[in-house]
Amino acid sequence: MPINFYEGEKIFHITTPNTSYIFRMNGEYMLEHLYYGKKIEKLDGLENRELFYNFTSRNYEYLEQGIALHGELIPQEYGFFGSPDMRNPSFHAKYSDGSRITKMKYVSHNIFKGKPKLKGLPATYVENENDAETLEIKVKDEYTGLSLVYRYTAFLNEDAIARSVDVINEGTDDININSVMSMSIDFCEQDFEFVHLYGAWAKERAIEKTPLHHGTTKIESRRGSSSHHHSPFFALSRKNTTEEFGEVYGFSLLYSGNFEAGVEVDTYDGLRAFMGINSFDFNWLLKSGESFHAPEVVMVYSNNGFGGMSRTFHDLYRNNLARGNFKGRKRPIVINSWEAAMFDFNEDIILDYAKAAKKLGIEMLVLDDGWFGKRKNDKSSLGDWEPDFEKLPNGITGLSDKIKKEGLEFGLWYEPEMISPDSNLYRQHPDWCLHVDGRGTSLCRSQLVLDLSRDDVCEYIIGFLREGLKSASISYIKWDFNRNATEVGSALLPAERQVEVSHRYILNLYKILETITSEFPDVIFEGCSGGGGRFDAGMMHYFHQYWTSDDTDAFERIKIQYGTSMVMPTEFCTAHVSHAPFGRLGRNTSLKTRGNVATFGQFGYEMDIRELSEDEAEEIRAQIERYNQLYKTIHTGDQYRLISPFEENCAAWEYVSKDKNEVIFFFSTILAKPQNPPRKVRLAGLSEESLYRLRGTDEVYSGGVLMNFGISMNMLTDFDSEVLVFDKVK
Ligand code: DGJ
Repeated sequence: MPINFYEGEKIFHITTPNTSYIFRMNGEYMLEHLYYGKKIEKLDGLENRELFYNFTSRNYEYLEQGIALHGELIPQEYGFFGSPDMRNPSFHAKYSDGSRITKMKYVSHNIFKGKPKLKGLPATYVENENDAETLEIKVKDEYTGLSLVYRYTAFLNEDAIARSVDVINEGTDDININSVMSMSIDFCEQDFEFVHLYGAWAKERAIEKTPLHHGTTKIESRRGSSSHHHSPFFALSRKNTTEEFGEVYGFSLLYSGNFEAGVEVDTYDGLRAFMGINSFDFNWLLKSGESFHAPEVVMVYSNNGFGGMSRTFHDLYRNNLARGNFKGRKRPIVINSWEAAMFDFNEDIILDYAKAAKKLGIEMLVLDDGWFGKRKNDKSSLGDWEPDFEKLPNGITGLSDKIKKEGLEFGLWYEPEMISPDSNLYRQHPDWCLHVDGRGTSLCRSQLVLDLSRDDVCEYIIGFLREGLKSASISYIKWDFNRNATEVGSALLPAERQVEVSHRYILNLYKILETITSEFPDVIFEGCSGGGGRFDAGMMHYFHQYWTSDDTDAFERIKIQYGTSMVMPTEFCTAHVSHAPFGRLGRNTSLKTRGNVATFGQFGYEMDIRELSEDEAEEIRAQIERYNQLYKTIHTGDQYRLISPFEENCAAWEYVSKDKNEVIFFFSTILAKPQNPPRKVRLAGLSEESLYRLRGTDEVYSGGVLMNFGISMNMLTDFDSEVLVFDKVK
């Protein structure tokens, strides 16, 4: 059984194939966290808890006196404000008598097969109930009638545990929830580093590792979406942990709005990790009989370094988060109009792209921004989702039919959550945007955010998407979201609920996505947010893939794809070859390197392909042919990050098919230097005893040689790169 309760010791032991998560009931009032890490088969001795804590005797004096003296030094499963536990509380609420004290007493627990859905929220799932087991523990504050349910799901095939929390008002009075974390863990050790992904437009998900200090280390978003700036993910790694060695705990939140996550190290060197909806600018009025659901966190423990952690996230998210008809299926290779034409196109130009694309082996044309309203630039028309008949005399229906005749599938861009002040929609419904009367609105990219906390706005969005999708042969939607939320307020909510707008927005966004993606199961939905903002695990319950970044400069992309792979599998990440130099950088990289980098994603092109030289066309055809050969291992295999572009003057990664028969290795030099010696790279994850042939040659190497002796890569010219493929021959 993956989850056991030992009645005598009152211990809960949650296990996955290689990990244990253990806590116990310490009296009726305390759930005391004991352990999370490498699997412990036999728990003998765990009851001698004096071994574990500092100041033990003092703690236990406190403990004997019950709830009123929750020890500040004792690891808790979930901490409450109002007790002597002074650390960052997991839950904070205000009750009808004005008090903010919560004292939870154990009520019951239940262990069952499978994993329940989370109402209205994205969540991991199992198709077969034998693939997971769930523990639910109910605790209740008898004074206020507030109950919480802590939920833990252990996956049978992955070293991952999903947690979520329900808040239920079983009392008679209103309760104001100020803060509810989805996860909290106390560790009695502090030799960790904090690892997180930060970024901005065109530089998403850079890896940063920092030592912990006494006090709080925190990442968060206050932007209305999880954003480019911090991903809702962090890891705690033991010092000196590398890609393949050492201990790491990874935490990933399935939520796309304002979040907070971090670690508090107290002055007794205890460490509390926490993650959930951001309590800044949050409050939820919970009426009698109502429930609130805090989003899910996935926790992964690896003692095989960061690589082990990432591979668990990849497998779990590919198998147990992604849904729909395209899960695990090859997606078409795309030509996207944006980098090629921006707003400057007409039907003939788009058809010329399609004709040229077909000759190259491209399978789908995606018409990006600029096809609707009077959208000559980014200053108008968001909300007016009628084709611009000046540019497209036959509308989207006519265009999509013509594209189909050329032998390509057709995809279309929308930015459904936005409204331009210069639009018919705004002229009809000026109160449909997020705003607060009398406070003005701040434009960003000349647009405002629609107020998705309103049901009429959501119905409107579902309506035009449904109509658009039915009106033409559309096989793919790119769903963009290009600004942060400001002046967050809704014309419909009463004053005391204005602070709920951000969370209501996200709940309704999930509702829209659920409705549309399930009504159109044969359409590929690609998420996008000014490139790769809001690329979080919550979104990937609805979207099949995500535009990783607007930055298509090959070198920047290496870093972005490398950082993104900390949590996200390559199958989720769209990567296109564009013109060089890219945008503002002015850096030239070869078509070869741009193609090599984009191969490690959902592949496509985003450049004017009408007038390629014969050499360029030949090279692109070869890239497409190679991608078609390699995509399976890249999207379903195990990824190993071998050299970090954040740490060295080169980068390398590798994908190994699950049966270890195919190995795809990528290497890139960043800046060449005179007298630069070759860089030795050791491969990983191969079968030690087997023999591998370097594809296209007669060279044969043992897995042991490739993994221990390694291969030497020459570092000759700036931004040069190689993709090598090894096939198992014996
Ligand atoms: C931002 C996206 O990331 C781009 O790919 C493109 O779709 C533009 N928006 C269009 O406005």
